[in-house]
Amino acid sequence: MITKKQFVCPYEVYDSMDELQPQDAELMRKAHEAARNAYAPYSKFHVGAAVRLANGVVVLGNNIENAAYPSGLCAERVAMFSAMAQYPGEPFEALAVTAWSATKAIEEPVAPCGACRQVMVEVEQASKRPLRVLCQGDTGPVMVFDGIESLMPFIFLDKLLG
Ligand code: THU
Repeated sequence: MITKKQFVCPYEVYDSMDELQPQDAELMRKAHEAARNAYAPYSKFHVGAAVRLANGVVVLGNNIENAAYPSGLCAERVAMFSAMAQYPGEPFEALAVTAWSATKAIEEPVAPCGACRQVMVEVEQASKRPLRVLCQGDTGPVMVFDGIESLMPFIFLDKLLG
């Protein structure tokens, strides 16, 4: 027997950053700041991320590319790993991501790649609370996910490891 099922992926869309609640708007502003530091000479796609921790500290990250392409890292993982290195054990509350490019207007939200989502899963589990993920382009609407499950269905869980 085959059962047809559907995964529901709830999220909110805000028309612009101005409509976000103040804490979220501030985090997104920081992500835009972080995007200015991107080292992206190959893609010219400048990504910024900002993580807000439970202690109120905001940690920034930007993408860092390398001539040996796989050696580079996305802005989200730079921010998350940096936060984990500087504030070990501190729960994560929210992560904002944005990007700009000199060659193309980025007016749609930037969705994190699969590898970053997998790291978000682990971060959320360790934080014991939903991770709020905010995505925006250089301008335009903001997508808000309240918890990583909406971004990453059928996640790999470490409980399977036994
Ligand atoms: N990138 C990020 O930093 N985050 C994303 O969510 C998508 C992709 C980076 C990787 C690479 O430096 C550039 O953007 C183009 O893929």
